[in-house]
Amino acid sequence: MGAGSDDSRALARYTWPEVQLRSGREEKWLVIDRKVYNISEFCKRHPGGVRVISHYAGQDATDAFTAFHIDKQLVGRYLKPLLIGRPLAKYSQACS
Ligand code: HEM
Repeated sequence: MGAGSDDSRALARYTWPEVQLRSGREEKWLVIDRKVYNISEFCKRHPGGVRVISHYAGQDATDAFTAFHIDKQLVGRYLKPLLIGRPLAKYSQACS
């Protein structure tokens, strides 16, 4: 009861290697705007198709996500239940 807004929810922290591991057949996570989303099930129902979204599993999908979804309110409703946490470090640090 009274869970409040998203911001008040205690979000888990994941390292980039943990995110990058979730790019396989069973588990798929991706990052948008510094938040980690579990798309393992959602990807099969993604209106844009399973392939295009799965391509970004284990990665930062912010740029593609921003480019392909015009109605931010609509996609926001889909995003919300998929949120599982935040990455610990910046992507650039993980990849350098
Ligand atoms: C958790 C992440 C995502 C969610 C919740 C999501 C959700 C949606 C929704 C609700 C739609 C239909 C409405 C709309 O067109 O705006 C859509 C369409 C689409 N999405 Fe995503 N999406 C996600 C990630 C991605 C990513 C990473 C890509 C990569 C390119 C992508 C590409 C597309 C494309 C190409 C369409 C079809 C647009 C069209 O038919 O005009 N989506 N997505």
